[in-house]
Amino acid sequence: MNVVIVGATSTVAQAMAVQFAARGDRLFCLARNEQKLEKLAEKLSQTYTGGFCFDFNDSERIEEALAALYNVMPIIDIVIFAHGELLDQQLSEHDSSVARKTFEVNLLSVLEILIPLSNHLEQQGRGKIGVITSVAGDRGRPRNYTYGAAKGALSLYLQGLRSGLWGSGVAVYDFKMGPVDTPMTVDHEKNFSFSTPEKVATIMVNALQKKRYTVYVPGYWAWVMRVVRLLPEALFQRLKFLSAR
Ligand SMILES: NC(=O)c1ccc[n+]([C@@H]2O[C@H](COP(=O)([O-])OP(=O)(O)OC[C@H]3O[C@@H](n4cnc5c(N)ncnc54)[C@H](OP(=O)(O)O)[C@@H]3O)[C@@H](O)[C@H]2O)c1
Repeated sequence: MNVVIVGATSTVAQAMAVQFAARGDRLFCLARNEQKLEKLAEKLSQTYTGGFCFDFNDSERIEEALAALYNVMPIIDIVIFAHGELLDQQLSEHDSSVARKTFEVNLLSVLEILIPLSNHLEQQGRGKIGVITSVAGDRGRPRNYTYGAAKGALSLYLQGLRSGLWGSGVAVYDFKMGPVDTPMTVDHEKNFSFSTPEKVATIMVNALQKKRYTVYVPGYWAWVMRVVRLLPEALFQRLKFLSAR
């Protein structure tokens, strides 16, 4: 299968890329960091068909990036979106440029690449799109609500896109991921709720074979977040492990 990974040098994306490669898929990678992408390309060996590096916030480079992609891979089976950035929450509450940056990288840069790619897949009449969002998008919490709001907006967009593309042959997956031990969470105290990149990668690669499109990763987050979403405000505020900073 022909697989495109947007944000391919993310820790979780690299673990997914290795798994796609192991089953013989062909990969094209979009990333920011050339050195990291070179290392990944070495790991992927002959399954790596090419890549293009740019800052995804630089929307003027998207056309060039996609032209490079279509040149190597005119037919695409799977597209994965894996880039993101968790900026300082408290800073984002005082410096609106940090809030803006959070939305630019986690929402707008995704949409600007997703829109042309989803149109391309629709024209093909087939394909699968998987986007990594977050359980942080399910309910605003003091700890990370700026990031959570960007991811939550992305989930809502994906829900609409999925319905819009229903019957077109294009499936849209929303991977609502729980905490994972990667550079993004390097400063976070690790506890039982953390997964490894390899574990979540396996769950997402396998989920693309199924017909359930909102996927909590790992699956137990579906139950946890159902409870968290339904908690009445007064109770939520009393549960300090949820409502504290
Ligand atoms: N780790 C978690 O606990 C967790 C939980 C839920 C959801 N997520 C989401 O999971 C996805 C994967 O994250 P991860 O945990 O694998 O983190 P990671 O290893 O820190 O990867 C984040 C990636 O985003 C890329 N990126 C950030 N800003 C970019 C920009 N402007 N242009 C291009 N690329 C940019 C980084 O590029 P460079 O390689 O160049 O630095 C990096 O590869 C993200 O969408 C994240 O929001 C993570």
